[in-house]
Amino acid sequence: MPTSIRSLAPILGLVLVVGCHKAPEITSFVDNPQMKSLPAEIQDGIRKFLLEHSGTPSHPRNYVEGVPDTKAERRLELGKQIYTRRCVQCHGSSGDGAGPQAAYLYPRPRDYRKGIFKFITTGYGNKPVRDDLVRTIKQGVSGTSMPSFHLLKDPEVQAVVDYVLALTHRGELEYQLALDHESESKFDPEVGKEAITLIKGRWAESQGLVFNPLSPQPVFTSEHIAAGKAAFLTKGCAKCHGEDGRGQTPDNLGGKLVDKDWGTPTRAADLTSGMLRGGQQPLAVYRRIYGGINGTPMPEFRRELAQDPEMAWNLVAYVLHVSGRRRAGEQPPSGSIAPYITTLSTAQPKSDQPE
Ligand code: HEC
Ligand code: HEC
Repeated sequence: MPTSIRSLAPILGLVLVVGCHKAPEITSFVDNPQMKSLPAEIQDGIRKFLLEHSGTPSHPRNYVEGVPDTKAERRLELGKQIYTRRCVQCHGSSGDGAGPQAAYLYPRPRDYRKGIFKFITTGYGNKPVRDDLVRTIKQGVSGTSMPSFHLLKDPEVQAVVDYVLALTHRGELEYQLALDHESESKFDPEVGKEAITLIKGRWAESQGLVFNPLSPQPVFTSEHIAAGKAAFLTKGCAKCHGEDGRGQTPDNLGGKLVDKDWGTPTRAADLTSGMLRGGQQPLAVYRRIYGGINGTPMPEFRRELAQDPEMAWNLVAYVLHVSGRRRAGEQPPSGSIAPYITTLSTAQPKSDQPE
């Protein structure tokens, strides 16, 4: 044996010097739990259809976006490389938000497969526009483990958005196909094509729904803050966020709030933390209040605010005032930290872990 090792030495040396950069090939996705209840033959049909239209993690395709051309394929390949280096440890190679680090994180990294995104400009229940994902990736999600990737170049961000969308659409397609075949005895490729059209339609519809403020942003004064506080106390905000914005309410502390679509416990934001996840800019805060936060218990206040457009900016002024309090040197009385602990220990989604 020593001779054969000696003959390998130059190759081993080369690997050590050059390094082994090639990521291992990942040839399959983690199944959506929904698939488990289907007969094996249908599961095979769905997997084959998905392989054809969405590829594998290492060789992705995105037929939901359209038949790919060489340029789109090249971008997806670049997106995959960036994702594999910078995102996979949290969001997982299947985009299920269950990468190796995910179990230790609160909030959990996004499971893209549901097609639900939080920090969007189209309003509750809608799909994001591309720019929403670009913004989140560049800006990060303050107060969570989602880093800011502002050092990536624009084409790199666009490419990784392509890859995130490929994972998202594959997940949506898998779920839709499983749903459509619940009471079928055979896989039907025609149903597959219809599912693609349906998902495409949902995304297309949302592209026209970007909303802008109902009135121009005023220069905030103490009157805006006082009016915002009054609205905060009377319009239901305090019920979840607490009168002082810290979220020290029974529902919040008792772990009663849940992100329904992801099945993970959550809590109403501590608005005094100084770290607004959706961004600290007045327009970002406006959008969170007016459009709600998709997938979470934070409701949209679109209808209430349409009756009273000024109230929207008053609330923004108050939220920003509360959010800046600690920076201004004020120390709110210490409160319970229990919710973070209970939430962390139960933050595993129901059955989305690979087996
Ligand atoms: C250290 C863990 C971590 C890494 C690395 C990471 N993310 Fe995230 N990501 C998160 C967490 C946690 C959230 C959820 C934040 C929340 O729910 O408020 C998130 C959310 C997101 C969202 C959803 C935003 C929304 O509006 O719902 C996108 C898109 C995203 N990440 C993309 C990426 C991309 C692309 C990369 C790599 C370039 C990446 N992430 C790397 C942890 C991470
Ligand atoms: C049913 C409970 C509930 C009510 C009512 C509610 N919120 Fe929220 N709110 C939440 C939750 C939960 C979050 C955290 C969402 C997330 O990031 O997961 C949140 C987040 C926010 C954020 C975003 C904070 C950030 O990190 O960017 C703002 C701003 C906000 N709420 C303001 C308001 C205002 C103003 C009102 C009243 C007009 C209100 N909320 C009413 C539950 C609620």
